[in-house]
Order: sequence, then structure tokens, then C-alpha cells
Amino acid sequence: MSLETITNPESLKKQINARRTFAIISHPDAGKTTLTEKLLLYGNAIHLAGSVRARRNQRSATSDWMKMEQERGISITSTVLQFPYKDHVVNLLDTPGHQDFSEDTYRTLTAADCAVMVLDAAKGVEEQTLKLFEVCRRRGIPVFTFINKMDRPAQDPLGLLDEVETVLKMQPVPMNWPIGDGDTFLGVYDRKTEDVHLYDRTAHNQTISPEYITTLDDSRIEAGLSDFQFEELHLNIGLMDELAEYDHEKFLAGEQTAVYFGSALTNFGVQLFLDDFIQMAPPPSAYPSDAGQIEPVSPGFSGFVFKIQANMDPRHRDSVAFLRICSGRFERNVQVKHPKTGKQLKLSRTYTFFADERAVVDEAYAGDIIGLPGNREFSIGDTISSNGNFSFNPIPRFAAEHYGRLINLDVGKQKQFLKGIHQLESEGAMQVLYETEATRRDPILAVVGVLQFEVVQARLENEYNVKTKLEPLPHQLSRWVEGPKEQIDQLPWRYGMMRTEDLDGRLVALFSSPHELSFYSEKYPDIHFLSIQ
Ligand code: G4P
Repeated sequence: MSLETITNPESLKKQINARRTFAIISHPDAGKTTLTEKLLLYGNAIHLAGSVRARRNQRSATSDWMKMEQERGISITSTVLQFPYKDHVVNLLDTPGHQDFSEDTYRTLTAADCAVMVLDAAKGVEEQTLKLFEVCRRRGIPVFTFINKMDRPAQDPLGLLDEVETVLKMQPVPMNWPIGDGDTFLGVYDRKTEDVHLYDRTAHNQTISPEYITTLDDSRIEAGLSDFQFEELHLNIGLMDELAEYDHEKFLAGEQTAVYFGSALTNFGVQLFLDDFIQMAPPPSAYPSDAGQIEPVSPGFSGFVFKIQANMDPRHRDSVAFLRICSGRFERNVQVKHPKTGKQLKLSRTYTFFADERAVVDEAYAGDIIGLPGNREFSIGDTISSNGNFSFNPIPRFAAEHYGRLINLDVGKQKQFLKGIHQLESEGAMQVLYETEATRRDPILAVVGVLQFEVVQARLENEYNVKTKLEPLPHQLSRWVEGPKEQIDQLPWRYGMMRTEDLDGRLVALFSSPHELSFYSEKYPDIHFLSIQ
């Protein structure tokens, strides 16, 4: 699109309304990476599935941090993928799905307009999915459900829907129905069109699967299913009218989730899902700020930093701030204001990302994610805008679940140690607490995922030349403590609870279990234990 056409408000609106910005949430192994690849395959962004994963594995280690990623075969850092699809621009925020996920995983969801929840059809709703889902619910964004791995023996579809309803407290609406499961998984029945989509497998599942659009009375269905499965299928489809109907308003409000059955590995149902997704997923929506809601089509360019990744290229001591554009149009060399420092900046080195590759971006719109390298003064949550007179609401902090005392092994380097801790804290790598009344003031790191400990230690060593030791603590949760001072002082601090303060000097209690917290909350009703989120 030429530059002249997008200066008028109608073109701006058109560009923004074409954006679909989302994240995939899942428990490790449910199939997030596979579905991501298949969406890219059907989005024509790659031609052979398997290449993103292969490239990730082949990538040469560029730092210890990256080495750590490779050794564990996981992605610590989120990648942003953008591809055009049928007059839309799809931005997929990749959230790390390993058990050792971090606060970054949660923060990524603050930059998404909706989420796709991938469930393993044999396992249903798993622990990590639930945690990520809660973050989506808090943000009030709509959630699609993709019930994956139907090519393996699966739980009963009705039972899976029931589980979504009871565990997630959201009405599931099946948009399609699986035809068979495991070896007999043939395709899906599309509830809206009443068409049946049958598929063939392809070699190594690498290319788009041939698809046959037919009807329920196609003889291949009866031939491919057992008598029992065939009867069940007809029974379930006959009962479909009794299941919830799709209601777009309820879906957008997060009261309903649109459910798709499929198999990312064999490509069955992926395109049907993608086609519905771009129609039903919301375009970028308004973000709250201290000057009210900022509408995406407001003329001024604005966005917020939701992630900072340092050390992407250690040769340049590189640090990239990822910005979610919330309003207007970004143009390279735009003058912006950074309200926190009051500085005027010219954004000339800006990138978009495809997997591990970057490309210089000349223009981008609300909903897009751009990377701003080399700006050390940015921190998580910072607003950047062309008029510079408002700030987006802060990104919430997420409750830490792991605590550890970090000991500097070289007292001669205390200054670098503290500088590093301060920098990493401001980047949002961890939260920092200090035990009050302790003889030594070693920082206590509070993190969402234990891998963050290793990342902090590796970065302190690489970037600040400070070796450290981490002593894990048995605590699981923390609360701000408020109430009458005499009573607070009388709390049995030494037994179980640990008395600490955060960097703002607020009193924080660490507990070893939720049970301990509820015990003390009941025993001391005048003291408030406030959630740190
Ligand atoms: P994740 O990102 O959510 O952790 O999951 P990922 O896509 O890596 O998938 C985890 C495993 O499940 C992979 O197998 C993958 O091939 C498999 N998988 C994903 N989707 C499907 C599906 O629809 N059907 C079946 N049958 N399997 C699926 P792996 O053996 O761990 O890895 P790989 O050797 O295949 O790479």
C-alpha cells in the first residue's frame, strides 16, 4: 500500500481493522509449536512445516543465554511472527510453553487482542493452560479453543466440552465436530455449513493436506469408522442443536469460547480454523491510559513496551524493546516522546520479526509489534507516543511462585552486582525483596518460573562479570502486609513466614503454602495480606 493512501483516516481504519494479534496458550506438549507452524504453512508464510523448529534447533549459540535455550530445547524468549492472510495481517505472539515459563509469558498476553487455547484431546485442560487462561480472563480477551491431537485416541468430545465449561467457567461452543479419533480420524463436520471436510495425510505432514468437502452421507465416513463410532457421530450431530449456539457478543466478552477439533500434526481442520479465526477474532481494541481509553484509530502513534530482550546479539550488547502499537500508524524516523524520561526520540532502527529473522520496518499499524533495538532507557510498561502526553496503564505484575536468596560470590564486585540487580529488575526479569532485620542484605529474587533464576545469574555473569550463588527458599507465595504496627510486629515472623520488604520499602510476607496464608489471615483478622499482582 502506498504511503499517500494511508494518510487518510479511512485507510488507517482499514489497515487497523485488518490486524489480528493473538497468542497461543497451552500446556507444554499440547501442540502449540506444531499449530504455530501449521498456521504459518496455511498462511503461506512457510512452505514446509518443520522449518521453524529446525531453524530454532540449528541456530548457532550467540550467548550463554541462548546456549541455555538450546541445551534445554526450549524457547525462553517470545518471538513475534507476522504474516498476511486473506486481506488480513496476522500477528502471532509466541509465548514460551515450557514448564519453566516466566513472567514474560504472562506479559506477552497483555499485548494480544485474543488467545487460542490449545488442548491435548487426550488430556483436556492442564495446569499451565489454566494459569495462562486466567491471565486472559483478567484481561477480558476472547479465547478460541483448539482441541488438538484428534489423530490419537482422544477423550469423548462431549466430555472435553464439559471439562472446559466446569474448569474454565466459560460456555464452550463446538464450531465443528470430529469424525472419528485416533487412526480413524477422518476430518471434521462444520456446524455452520453442515459440510464435512475429509482430509488425506501428506508425507511427513509437511505440506497442505488434500481436502474433500462433502456431506455426512459420504460413504467414506461409514467405511472409515467402526459401527459404534458411526452411530455415535450421527447421534452427536443430531444432538448438536441442544448445545450452545455461537454468539459473537458473548465470545468477544469472554463468556463463550469457540471450540475447534483437529490435528495440528496431520493438518486436519487447521485451515477451517484459520479461516474462521480471521473473521471472528477482534481487530485491535482500545487500551486504557491515564488520559482515558486510547482508541486504535486515534491519529497519533502510540504503544507500550511489553518485553525487553537483552543480549539478542552480544557482539553489540544488544537490547531490544518490543512495542505493541496501540494507536495510529508508525512510520520509520517518527519523532516520539518517552513520557518517563521526557526525552524526544527518533525511531529510526525499528524491526519486525519473523521467527529469528528481523527486517527493517518502514511502517506499521495499531496491533503490530515492532522491535526497538539499543534503547537501554526503556523499561517494561513504558509508553511511547508521538504526542507524549499520556501513559498507558501499568502492566500488572504477576504473582511469583519461586523465591531464592542470591549471594554475590565476589564481595569486591558488590557495586556491579547491585547495578546488575537493579537493571534486571527494571527490565522485569524478576522482583527483588530484602529480608528485614537480617544480618546480611542479600537480595531475595521472586520469580514466576524457576528458569528466570538461571537467566538472571547468567546475565549477571555475562554482562556484569559477577558470579553468584542461588539458595532456593521454600516459600511459594508473598503478600503485602498492612495493619496496626503492634499487631504486625507480633506476627510469628520467625516461624514459617519471612519478613521482607520490596524496593519501595513496603512490608512483604513470604509464605510456604497457601494453607499457611489462610491460617494467618484467619488468625489475625485486623491484618491485611494483600495480593502482589
Ligand atoms: P508445545 O509447543 O505445545 O510444547 O508442543 P509441540 O507442538 O512441540 O508438540 C509436542 C509433541 O506433540 C510433538 O511430538 C508433536 O509432534 C506432537 N503433536 C503436536 N500436535 C500433534 C497432533 O495433532 N497429533 C499428534 N499425534 N501429535 C502432535 P514430539 O515427539 O515431542 O516431537 P517431534 O519429534 O514430533 O518434533
